Parts: sequence; structure tokens; C-alpha cells
Amino acid sequence: DKSGHRHFMSKEIAEQPTVLGDLISRYLDGAEAEALAATPDFAKVDRLVLVACGTAFYACHVAKYWIEKLARIPVEIDVASEFRYREPPITAGTVALFVSQSGETADTLAALRYCQGKADHILAVVNVAESSIAREADSALQIHAGVEVGVASTKAFTNQLGVLALLALKAAADRGATPPEELERLRGTLRQMPGILSQALVRDEAIAAIASQLAEATDVLFLGRGPMYPLALEGALKLKEISYIHAEGYASGELKHGPIALVDDKTPVVVLAPRDALFDKTVSNMQEVMARHGKVVLITDRKGAETASDGTWHTLVMPEVDPLFAPISYAVAAQLLAYHTAVAKGTDVDQPRNLAKSVTVE
Ligand code: F6R
Repeated sequence: DKSGHRHFMSKEIAEQPTVLGDLISRYLDGAEAEALAATPDFAKVDRLVLVACGTAFYACHVAKYWIEKLARIPVEIDVASEFRYREPPITAGTVALFVSQSGETADTLAALRYCQGKADHILAVVNVAESSIAREADSALQIHAGVEVGVASTKAFTNQLGVLALLALKAAADRGATPPEELERLRGTLRQMPGILSQALVRDEAIAAIASQLAEATDVLFLGRGPMYPLALEGALKLKEISYIHAEGYASGELKHGPIALVDDKTPVVVLAPRDALFDKTVSNMQEVMARHGKVVLITDRKGAETASDGTWHTLVMPEVDPLFAPISYAVAAQLLAYHTAVAKGTDVDQPRNLAKSVTVE
């Protein structure tokens, strides 16, 4: 049932404030608080290894920034298909974490099995409680996103980020690596996040207008820095999956090391940049794009727009949010941009060609 939406994907995008709100209250005040408390004592953990595929991998990539910053634990991330065959050494003191919406992805399950008997603890973050990955892990955290029908993952990604943010805060508390008041402030930010997602959804029409022009493009670049870098990768993945437009995500600072050669007056470049400590550096990357006549779509907040919207093709103003957790709300913009571009192109949004919802073969 699409509840009045034209596609499951748009329904699932719209559900995000509700499912994220439900997730945060379950973990902060409800039945899941115990599951979070029962994760390993991170004061005794030397290293975390986060493994997944596709969008779930990008959630891990965002989490690496959060965990390293807040808990000061080294975090390694890898895609499951590489990890499993590389036979990486898993040393004592390692916690291995596997993220999967379906809990059945073949490569992720094989990577988990590789870690059995090697890692101190195997943790799963899943949407399907009775899935293989949940069952074979030592413990599992549920993302409670509800059934996700659209092949392109949306609400599962947001709720994966929700659980991983809570885990980063828990690990930080275990290690005393971030002052308790700061952790409490960040918990407050997470509690406000559903409201921020609702405000992000209000940008729907503005995003559809940008998408109607983006639909003409054959190549699109996405740029981001810090925790927004993995979101640039996710934005590019979402766009290519459902609109079939070639898209690549890059770390903003990598632009001049190659990808800027692609920029011309036909190349839209989506810059995901809340006004954070490194905003000026990203703006200077963006100016390099504009100097080569690239068409910049700047996605930022009010303060960012005030200082940097000159010369952009489009500027989309997102609700204010702590830059650390901005990937959660900016994900909504990336999803809506891909969605409306696909709708403008008339592709099969919920069932994109060549893709399956659950990849149970290699
Ligand atoms: C992209 C997408 C895929 C999945 C990937 C992993 O929109 O949905 O990239 O994220 O196939 O699937 P799960 O999370 O079920 O292991």
C-alpha cells in the first residue's frame, strides 16, 4: 500500500521523521536502551571493523567519522566483497560490526562468518530481526525502519545512521573520550532530528524544480567533506540507481586531483555543505568548479547560503543542524533529488533495471 504516494520510494522517504523518531525513543528511553547498554564495553575495545555493501556501507563510512571523533577508537571500514576475500588480520580487541537492511546479503554474511572465532564480538545492525546476519552475530541492534519496498534504500539508511550515531555516543561514554555534557547535547540533537527531517521534507517542491533540470544531465558529480563525504557517495549512488544518470561522489579536497577534468558547462556538481568548520575550504573547491563553468547545486544551511550562494546554479537551504549529524537530514535532500530526477525521466523508480532488493548471491 503506497498510502496515496505515487511510488513506494516517496512513501518511504516521507516516513523518515516517524521511523527515526520511533527509533530514537526506543533506544534512548524505551525497550532498546538495554540492547544498546549490552553492547561491548568500548573502553576495552582497541579497534572497530565496519563491513557492509552499497548504501549500508555508506552508513558505515559516516559512522567512522562519528566513532573516531567522539570515542577515539580507530575504525576500519570495508565493503563486504573485498573484506571477505582479503582475509584481513583480526587482532584481539577487535569488535566487528555488520550493517544490512535485509540481513541476508551474501557477501556481508560471508564477511561475518569470516570474523567468527577471530573478533572479540560480532555486532549486527539490521532491519529484519530474524535474518541470518542477526542470528549469526553475537548481538544485534534493530533499526526498526519497517518494511522497505523500494529497491533504493532510503528510510533504512536514515535509521542505520540513527543506530550508528547512538552507538558512537555509547562508545564515547564508555571511554570517557568526550565530555558527558557534550554527549548529552548530541543526544538532544538526535531527539530533534525527526523534526529536522520533517522540515527537510518541506523542501520537496524546491528540490523537484532542481531535479527537472538535473534530468537533462548525462553526468553529475557530488562533493562533500568530513561526514558529508560518504553522503556525497550515497547521493551519487541513489541518482545513478534510479535515474540511470552517471554520477560520482568525491571528497571535496580530491577534486583537483583528477575529477575536475570532467567539469564543463554541462556538468552539474552537487555540493553537500552545511556551514561547518571546513566550510570555507569546500567553498573554495566549489569556486574552482564555477571557474570552469560547472553548474553548482549548493545544498547548505541559511548561514552557508548567505556567504556562498553567489554564482551557483541553484542553492537549496536546509534546516539548521549540528554539522556532525547533518548526513542524517541531508540524506533526505539527496534522496528527493534522485527521486524527482527519476520521475522527470520516467524511469521505474521502485524497481530500477538490473537491481534486486536483496542480493543473496555474490
Ligand atoms: C542502494 C541499496 C543497496 C543496498 C545493498 C545492501 O539503494 O539499497 O546498495 O544497500 O545491496 O543491502 P542490505 O542492506 O540488505 O545488506
